[in-house]
Amino acid sequence: MRIQFFLNNESVETNVPPHLRLSALLDQLDVPSSYLSCHSGACGKCLILLDGHLIYSCLLTVFEIRHHHITTITRWLETEISRQITMAQSILDIGLCPHCKHARYLSLIHFLDRKGRKVSDIKEYLSLVNCSCTSNLQLTKLFQFMDKVRERYER
Ligand code: FES
Repeated sequence: MRIQFFLNNESVETNVPPHLRLSALLDQLDVPSSYLSCHSGACGKCLILLDGHLIYSCLLTVFEIRHHHITTITRWLETEISRQITMAQSILDIGLCPHCKHARYLSLIHFLDRKGRKVSDIKEYLSLVNCSCTSNLQLTKLFQFMDKVRERYER
């Protein structure tokens, strides 16, 4: 089936079975996005944005994304926000494993872009990704640190 959608703001047309998972398509298209692990919505490592909403790409079929906007972490790699997060990790001595790093970055960027974001929202964002490489305490520090950095930019 011919499927058209937008990937990181560029129109993409592809001929694939409609029931193909978006995670598999992104893999086929060689999009360096998120890590695939459970394929069942349990690990959260395949996180992407569908029209600005965080969702697990392994739970979507390509039929469902027709004419929609898919955004992956690729859009922010090599940008100022990624550099700031990397620097914050270094300052706070927080390491993220390669399996969850992109999903964590995407959830953090989504949190920072959220209008009227509250520190109390952080717990909800942390629960999106299930990885034991870094404690929730450390991740909360990273989110809070970046929240303060963003506040300074927003002034
Ligand atoms: S691979 Fe999609 S949630 Fe685990």
